[in-house]
Amino acid sequence: MANYISEDKLSEIRNALDIVDVVSETVLLKKTGKNFVGLCPFHAEKTPSFTVSPDKQIYYCFGCGSGGNVFSFLMKRDGTPFGEAVRTLARRCGVDIPERSLSPDEQRRVSERERLFEANRQALECYRQALWHHSEGKQALTYLERRGFLRATLEVFQIGFAPPGWDYLLGSMARKKITPALLEKAGLVVGRKDGSGFYDRFRERIIFPIFDEGGRVVGFGGRVMDDSTPKYLNSPETPVYTKRKVLYGLNRAKEACRSAGSVFIVEGYLDLIALHQGGIENAVATLGTALAPDHVRLLTRYAGRMVLVYDSDEAGIRSAERCIDIFWKEHVDFRRGDVFREDQADTRILVLPEGHDPDSFMNRYGAEAFKRLAQSAPGIISFMIDSAVARHGLSTEGKIRVVSDLQAPLTAVNDSVARALYAKQLAERVGLAEAVILERLNEHAGRSGQRPAGVPAGAAGRAVTRATGDERFEQRIIAMMLQFPEILPEVVDRGILGYFTNDRMKTLGESIVSLWRGSPESVAGLLERVEDAAIREQLAFLAMGDESWNLKGCRTLLTRFVEGHQKKGARRMAIQKDIEAAEKAQNDSEIKRLLGEKQKMAVRREKQKMAARREREG
Ligand code: GTP
Ligand code: MN
Repeated sequence: MANYISEDKLSEIRNALDIVDVVSETVLLKKTGKNFVGLCPFHAEKTPSFTVSPDKQIYYCFGCGSGGNVFSFLMKRDGTPFGEAVRTLARRCGVDIPERSLSPDEQRRVSERERLFEANRQALECYRQALWHHSEGKQALTYLERRGFLRATLEVFQIGFAPPGWDYLLGSMARKKITPALLEKAGLVVGRKDGSGFYDRFRERIIFPIFDEGGRVVGFGGRVMDDSTPKYLNSPETPVYTKRKVLYGLNRAKEACRSAGSVFIVEGYLDLIALHQGGIENAVATLGTALAPDHVRLLTRYAGRMVLVYDSDEAGIRSAERCIDIFWKEHVDFRRGDVFREDQADTRILVLPEGHDPDSFMNRYGAEAFKRLAQSAPGIISFMIDSAVARHGLSTEGKIRVVSDLQAPLTAVNDSVARALYAKQLAERVGLAEAVILERLNEHAGRSGQRPAGVPAGAAGRAVTRATGDERFEQRIIAMMLQFPEILPEVVDRGILGYFTNDRMKTLGESIVSLWRGSPESVAGLLERVEDAAIREQLAFLAMGDESWNLKGCRTLLTRFVEGHQKKGARRMAIQKDIEAAEKAQNDSEIKRLLGEKQKMAVRREKQKMAARREREG
């Protein structure tokens, strides 16, 4: 982790903030005993396993294994680098971080981002002026009003207009001392091929500013007012605009999503705006790009139910398939077991009547009709069953195709109960015995090499939980070192870590010893200095443990541990001595017996080590 912000500053910020408050902005927390729990913002779940400790100022999710302190929480939540998370929190609690503490490189990067936001903000101002005051702005207003959008709505979404001509923006921005080079970086102007200057990207288009979650302008979309192409033009990706991470309208939809517990996901700018104007404010738009895993992750922070709205069956099917894919990919890539399981995230597909998109539907039928339709939107798997039946029919041939279409998606549902229920649903639909369907699914699972249901992937915490025997002892010592740092000098003096057989635990222990640097402070502070995210999460898990130690208990534990190992060591040494004696006496049969015993002990040790390794690699 970059250390250009002094540790004093970091601990000043940590002391001024309560992680419970910061997490509460995103997660509804409930007090249970010493800790708070809530639904994890980083994976979809129905029962809370996200735990925050106000005493230790750390968090850990027993579901997905993410954990850390207040800074790591913000980094993960907002997808920002360390420095930015620290700055955000510093601003909140009024701690002043002098800019010069940035490395020159960081300074350039941060200030470039700031300058891009500023350029976008100024450009937006300029486009808005043009919509309301430029002589050509009328045509845009007329167009939008003809399509049923109210002026108040246009103001809420800060709609603008790019007048015709090649340098309207360039000219206005020059007056505000914003350089073409910066505008180009922001994607607002394009360099001429012959190198002779720049021209405006958006010309004679209605402008839709795209905001990030925090309400800063990251990019723009522009729509023509006739049938010319391309119908929409969008900003390219820039250092402040990553398309797969931004959802149009989320800045306005957040609160509504939280209170409704659900979010509508539509495709277009005007679809989103039409829903909002009709009073359906829990909606966001993907802007024509496919729904990405990052989008889903972002939304799970605000709503448990996601309703994907499409204007045709075909688009619905494509997206349903993609969703299964997203859930499945998460599952494989992040080895998080149940992240984004379809049945947990409660994802539904809403296909609007033939020929309608949300905008035209709202115009024609209104919000109540939209909500009624949404009520009956099927879940992804049900939707897929329905559309497969519609596609193939229920002839014998058709049924075979329906079952085979559903094989892959059903296998991807890794909650065995949910899968059985879907299998039942499919069986009833095609009139086959449930057992036949289940058998087919098992075949498929075997072929695709999928992990059977119920076997969790190796999320950090889980792997630690499955510790056995020696490893559990070592794990307790690590937990104790974290929760009771007073014991550290003794751990070091007695060479405790030298006895560890589990390499992972040994590494964790060594990290702790080197990170405390002889001046034990808070666990949250220690986590600060752990650069490796996996190690940080494991430490957070172990620190979260509920055992309350006292110095005496700690010493007893250490002594028992050392004595156990010394006994084994002593036995090994005794055998070695006996072997030497037997060699002197040239007692061959005794040598053989002792070597056999020594060998057996070595094998036992090796086995333990292998078990620990297997455990680790899960
Ligand atoms: P309207 O015709 O204005 O109602 O737009 P729409 O939202 O109904 O359009 P459509 O369903 O065709 O497109 C949905 C979304 O895809 C739009 O809001 C854009 O974000 C995006 N999109 C559509 N056409 C284009 C295009 O030509 N280029 C790009 N880059 N994006 C487009
Ligand atoms: Mn439309």
